[in-house]
Amino acid sequence: DIPRYVKIVEVGPRDGLQNEKTIVPTSVKVELIRKLISSGLPVVEATSFVSPKWVPQLADARDVIDAIKNFEGVKFPVLTPNLKGFKAATAAGAKEVAVFASASESFSKSNINCTIEESLSRYRAVTSSAKELSIPVRGYVSCIVGCPVEGSISPSKVAYVAKELHDMGCFEISLGDTIGVATPGNVLPMLEAVMAVVPVEKLAVHFHDTYGQALSNILVSLQMGISTVDSSISGLGGCPYAKGASGNVATEDVVYMLSGLGVKTNVDLNKLLLAGEYISKQLGRTSGSKTAIALSRA
Ligand code: HMG
Ligand code: MG
Repeated sequence: DIPRYVKIVEVGPRDGLQNEKTIVPTSVKVELIRKLISSGLPVVEATSFVSPKWVPQLADARDVIDAIKNFEGVKFPVLTPNLKGFKAATAAGAKEVAVFASASESFSKSNINCTIEESLSRYRAVTSSAKELSIPVRGYVSCIVGCPVEGSISPSKVAYVAKELHDMGCFEISLGDTIGVATPGNVLPMLEAVMAVVPVEKLAVHFHDTYGQALSNILVSLQMGISTVDSSISGLGGCPYAKGASGNVATEDVVYMLSGLGVKTNVDLNKLLLAGEYISKQLGRTSGSKTAIALSRA
């Protein structure tokens, strides 16, 4: 049995844009977010409060939040790698944040310049400040089956990090296939290990589509009971610290599949297509969504 409703977490403005070499104007980011929310998406990850030296594209995080903070009825989580980022995010008006740990030691080092344990202790500082301010914190685990440096990652490591994030108070744990190497063959044992320590209602999946496996991976995750799925408009994106990784699964493709399965999302595919057309045009690129391409020809 698969869930009747799936919550889609749109990560395009953050995960999608963070890897773009050319700086996208703040006004374009804000217009993209506006178009995304008008399609009915319930959650749009808006930006990151990370070091502008590490991710120059998102250096305008404060201005983005300022421009969207009065939009009602949608959640706009932002990435915060440490207390400094958390304080900057909340000062800017962010009402939800996300911390991001890794199941791979090497990736933790290259992405956030610290060990897994150091990152978890930073995130305990973030979650405890967040609790005082009643700010919900989402937790990511990256490299859930594979790491660009270490190769395959064992399910027990993923389960360990997911449980730590859950124990420190993250309301949702998003399991990220950062480099898009997962197949249903290794997603299943990974999910079984994680579900043994974190309730399935708290889990989300976050697949990049490097090897074209993302929709299959989402389908098996739904069959395992997961009902929150991350995706990126037009399949934009990739992680600047995971060379060669392509974008997230395209939101348009996820909505098309879920609609075919009779699963409710409350997202209007036609309006979503407009958001995808807008950003693809701005970036001067063909959409990474097969659904968008098919429907634009029709
Ligand atoms: P560091 O260099 O070790 O930091 O970076 P530091 O504490 O030594 O500070 C160095 C400088 O950064 C200082 O400034 C700090 O003030 C500043 P300086 O004195 O040199 O002028 N700094 C900050 N500035 C702004 N905001 C902050 C902040 N913190 C320190 N929050 C750090 C450590 C974590 C900051 C850095 O490595 C970083 O920003 N990393 C972010 C990398 C990133 O955003 N990666 C992409 C997101 S993760 C992802 O894509 C995976 C995901 O999608 C899931 C999946 O796909 O699996 C989530
Ligand atoms: Mg990602």
